[in-house]
Amino acid sequence: MLPIHFAPLQGFTESAYRLAHSKFAPGIHTYYTPFLRLEKGEVRAKDLRDLEADHPYHLIPQIIVRDVDEFNTLTKAVTDLGFKEIDINMGCPYPMQTKSGRGSGILPHVEKVREILGAVSQLSQADSTSEGLKFSIKMRLGLESPDESMHLLPLLNEASLAHITLHPRVGIQQYKGALNFEAFDTFYQECKHPLIFNGGITDLKEIQYIETRYPKLAGIMIGRGLLANPVLAAQYAGLPCRTAIETLLKIHADVAADYARRLQGNAQILDKIRPFWTYADLPKKIRKKIEKSKTLKEYMDSVNELA
Ligand SMILES: Cc1cc2nc3c(=O)[nH]c(=O)nc-3n(C[C@H](O)[C@H](O)[C@H](O)COP(=O)(O)O)c2cc1C
Repeated sequence: MLPIHFAPLQGFTESAYRLAHSKFAPGIHTYYTPFLRLEKGEVRAKDLRDLEADHPYHLIPQIIVRDVDEFNTLTKAVTDLGFKEIDINMGCPYPMQTKSGRGSGILPHVEKVREILGAVSQLSQADSTSEGLKFSIKMRLGLESPDESMHLLPLLNEASLAHITLHPRVGIQQYKGALNFEAFDTFYQECKHPLIFNGGITDLKEIQYIETRYPKLAGIMIGRGLLANPVLAAQYAGLPCRTAIETLLKIHADVAADYARRLQGNAQILDKIRPFWTYADLPKKIRKKIEKSKTLKEYMDSVNELA
């Protein structure tokens, strides 16, 4: 059985969600934070708060950087909080990030990647005073072409990496369009690091397909499939669990309570909590009610119809 990793999803898998998920839905090997980034040269306070929250589960912080300076600043901020593992985002397809050479926007820039991997190698080395940090990379096949990941592969193979997660799309595809299995096949054959598959997994059959097609795989990372069915990993592992909708309601209650504690006013709480259902499979009528509810009370009444 393969370890299941919960993909980082900005706006969804923040600390309250992760905590509630780990409480109600067993079977996740590793959670990741949505990417931490610099704003005007500083680490965002909001991102640090997310890291400081209680995490009684295996958590790897993720950073997004365009060069080795940003890498050093963010790595220091994360390690100052005691984390020893860091994931580097080389996959984000949002133009805001790619245009400035971050996320999948870094993949065509071999020299930038080389510099970052140089710093990774130094920080990974254990010495008599410290254990050494562990770095991983979450990436796409390229920004525009799968050739980009193939050009980087010799460099990646030489680097000290704990694992690579590969989402077999290019950045310009965003989150749609066919997964390029042929390109994943080639990367899988030549990659010397433990490799994790990510992309489009929504049910047990798809997990089994990936397991069979790639017997040397180190894990599977699932994002939207877990937002839709939070017990997918538990079902795969044969662990006792509630139904998907029962679990969604439990997680929702905890996340809504967290927003109610932290946010001011029902309108703000409603704005933050409503997208919770974006990827869930809901009866059309209830989805409409949830989307159209004007007050928190109306919203909660609609959600309670799911029970
Ligand atoms: C709303 C949204 C937010 C995302 N945020 C992040 C992020 O912060 N870091 C990251 O590496 N990937 C992010 N991703 C990509 C996912 O981690 C994942 O790679 C992608 O959704 C494909 O996997 P899936 O088909 O299992 O969802 C995001 C995706 C979505 C849809």
